[in-house]
Amino acid sequence: MASHQFTIFFFYGFAFFLASPSFIHYSYVAGEISGDFQHIVKLNSLLPGPMCLSTEDSKIPGTRLKLVHQQGACSPLKHTKKLNHKQILAQNQYHVNFIHNYHRRTSVTSINSKKTQISPAMVTKIPAYQGSSFSTPDYIVTIGFGTPKHDLTVFFDTGSDVSWIQCQPCAVYCYPQQEPVFDPTKSSTYSNVSCSTPACSQLQVSGCSDTTCLYGVLYGDNSSTVGFYAKDTLTLSSSDIIPGFFFGCGENNNGLFGKVASLLGLGRGPPSLISQSKTKYNGVFSYCLPSTTSSAGYLTLGGKAPVNLKYTPMLTDSSMTTFYFLGLQSISVARTKLAISPTVFSNAGTIIDSGTVISRLPPAAYSSLRQAFRQKMAKYPLAPGIGIFDTCYNLSSYETVEIPTVALGFAGGVVVDLDFFGIVYVVSLSQVCLGFRRK
Ligand SMILES: *[C@@H]1O[C@H](CO)[C@@H](O)[C@H](O)[C@H]1NC(C)=O
Ligand SMILES: *[C@@H]1O[C@H](CO)[C@@H](O)[C@H](O)[C@H]1NC(C)=O
Ligand SMILES: *[C@@H]1O[C@H](CO)[C@@H](O)[C@H](O)[C@H]1NC(C)=O
Repeated sequence: MASHQFTIFFFYGFAFFLASPSFIHYSYVAGEISGDFQHIVKLNSLLPGPMCLSTEDSKIPGTRLKLVHQQGACSPLKHTKKLNHKQILAQNQYHVNFIHNYHRRTSVTSINSKKTQISPAMVTKIPAYQGSSFSTPDYIVTIGFGTPKHDLTVFFDTGSDVSWIQCQPCAVYCYPQQEPVFDPTKSSTYSNVSCSTPACSQLQVSGCSDTTCLYGVLYGDNSSTVGFYAKDTLTLSSSDIIPGFFFGCGENNNGLFGKVASLLGLGRGPPSLISQSKTKYNGVFSYCLPSTTSSAGYLTLGGKAPVNLKYTPMLTDSSMTTFYFLGLQSISVARTKLAISPTVFSNAGTIIDSGTVISRLPPAAYSSLRQAFRQKMAKYPLAPGIGIFDTCYNLSSYETVEIPTVALGFAGGVVVDLDFFGIVYVVSLSQVCLGFRRK
């Protein structure tokens, strides 16, 4: 498999219910779809409002966490600067270079020695998995660490395994975060993890300081976190407490994490929350990303699958155990299947990843989608492209607009009709862009 060719999808307004070995989806955010297979939307509904609107409803039982856009109106973090799309898209491009370091077992022997710190050289053999976590904008949840619990807002990431937070005393460096930094000495249930525990040897990047386990995560833009591998109580809700949760207590953190303290890894590998809580939740979780930055979605853990779901097999790649692979087979625009050979998708492989906000397609698939989309949008004036987007429209003089439906066909006959905001990226009313990019 050409590892850098992944098709990566990100869905708004759908609930994904992930439970090995099957993946289920259902949609309840129905845009108005006309008989001509178009989304008809009022232009004034395209821009996110300044108020946090209602939370999306979940029919799925289980432990439920509120999931919000880190810079939106529902975010618990105060952002003084407004969203700047140019920066976001430039950053998105930049973040495309993030690499997940799950392939290589490397070692960390100290949290502060430059020589022994994890370095990019150690991970250069890893195929550049393009479009991994930390694309911006991103989604966050608030959870509690330690006893008494210390609430922290963390990135929600299905594309990585190790969860980590910044920790006092920030022996080397902590980047500024809005919430107070976690202090292990104030938690009665905190303990360091010994090097001899299986949890330590399951880390892709680990090391020992005397007998204390060290962890490290290096991302492709050189953002990194290194520190003690820790064990403490994780509080998801008042009734859902996970004692002895393993996570990284970061003492040397560098990079572009913004105001967010840390990351919650929901990948498929052993260190992830999903794997660690398997006895409690059975490896089952679902999430719904809000369609706009001013509404909230949810993350649920556990619970039974509701009836009437559709299933498509969840695929694995033994060399990339972190990721959730799906069998994408086709793309349709206005209910017409694009002439893309299924091998374009099967050769590439398809990952569903909450951290990759702009879906990427192999060149042949992207060209075909763009051509069909442009045909259906021919009546609207083109606007200049921006960043990674090359198909944008100036819709500022319209009251309502019609954009063609875009549907994804997965193995097992599952068809996912994308939400309006899953099809376009609204920079401004005079720059509404096809929200996909060429790999
Ligand atoms: C964890 O290990 C570090 C380094 O050895 C040490 O400074 C710290 O006090 C330890 N914390 C606990 C709770 O044992
Ligand atoms: C990361 O650091 C390495 C070595 O210092 C450098 O060669 C590389 O260009 C850096 N990558 C980015 C994206 O800054
Ligand atoms: C968009 O269209 C409006 C109305 O036709 C025009 O006034 C405006 O200058 C256009 N904006 C851009 C960025 O092209």
